[in-house]
Amino acid sequence: MLQQSDPPITGTILVADDQAANRELLEELLTAQGSKVITVPDGAAAVEELSKTQVDLVLLDVMMPRLNGFEACEKIKNNPATYLIPVVLVTALSDKHDRIEGIRAGADDFLTRPVDRTELLARVRSLLKLKLRTDELERAESVLFTLARSIEGKDPYTLGHCERLAEYSARLGEQLNLPEEQLVALRRAGIVHDVGKVAIPDAILLKPGGLTPEEWTIIRQHSVIGERICAPLKSFRLVVPIIRHHHEKLDGSGYPDGLRGDAIPVTARVLQIVDVYDALTTERPYKKAFSVTDSLQTMKDEVAKGWWDPHVFDQFERLVRSGEADVLSRGTAVGR
Ligand SMILES: [Fe+2]
Repeated sequence: MLQQSDPPITGTILVADDQAANRELLEELLTAQGSKVITVPDGAAAVEELSKTQVDLVLLDVMMPRLNGFEACEKIKNNPATYLIPVVLVTALSDKHDRIEGIRAGADDFLTRPVDRTELLARVRSLLKLKLRTDELERAESVLFTLARSIEGKDPYTLGHCERLAEYSARLGEQLNLPEEQLVALRRAGIVHDVGKVAIPDAILLKPGGLTPEEWTIIRQHSVIGERICAPLKSFRLVVPIIRHHHEKLDGSGYPDGLRGDAIPVTARVLQIVDVYDALTTERPYKKAFSVTDSLQTMKDEVAKGWWDPHVFDQFERLVRSGEADVLSRGTAVGR
């Protein structure tokens, strides 16, 4: 029964247990609190249910046929579409081994059997609160990604540019042994680095001829505007410096801050190498597409001028020569 002090537990909860009595008990307790409960008899059915239904929390029994609780949990946590859904494993009270196994499988929490009503509701409540926050964050991120892609979509010449940048910046970062969190930041920055162009008039953005000095001043504001758009998102902490500095040059002649050398974040140096290469190898309103060889030569000349990081460029050239960046140059054969 709903107590006055207990706010309802809203959300969809998936309960997987092979014992009908256990399923019914959990279903009864949770629906009485206002939750929508879906019950399934095994781990495989739980994973299948998640592929078709939006679920906010999963309660998994450990001993189940087909997939047991650990295996189902591992599947849920290894799938990018479901890994943010909290999973609670219901285990026997004394089974330490189960808990260790559960932690390995990525479980967010544990409940001991026989399930205590107060403990169950407290855990479910706190995990659903967490899920709500993750959902909000995901929504904010996806709005930004959509915005960035719609800007890219305005210009047929840059089609697919964001995806290529995300993929190859991360690959180049990996080649440079950057930590995982920087690779994630590079992937995100690949998509949103030019989001500030939303504030630049189309007449300038899509102008086929050369830009006037005034128009250059306007277009150069896109990195700072992009930083301002993304800064409120805490999860974009490592992305924001890439957005701000992706047009800096090693000799200090770039913008917006005229940073020199190592003062430019390494992630920004990575993204700009891929960005420049992609611009060279694709057709733009003001130029034809250059061959891989010509593009690499142009960039080598620019490295010599002091624009780009020589070490980052060397690693990138290696990636291109190995054929790993073929998609980046849209399948253009290396060496042409
Ligand atoms: Fe840019």
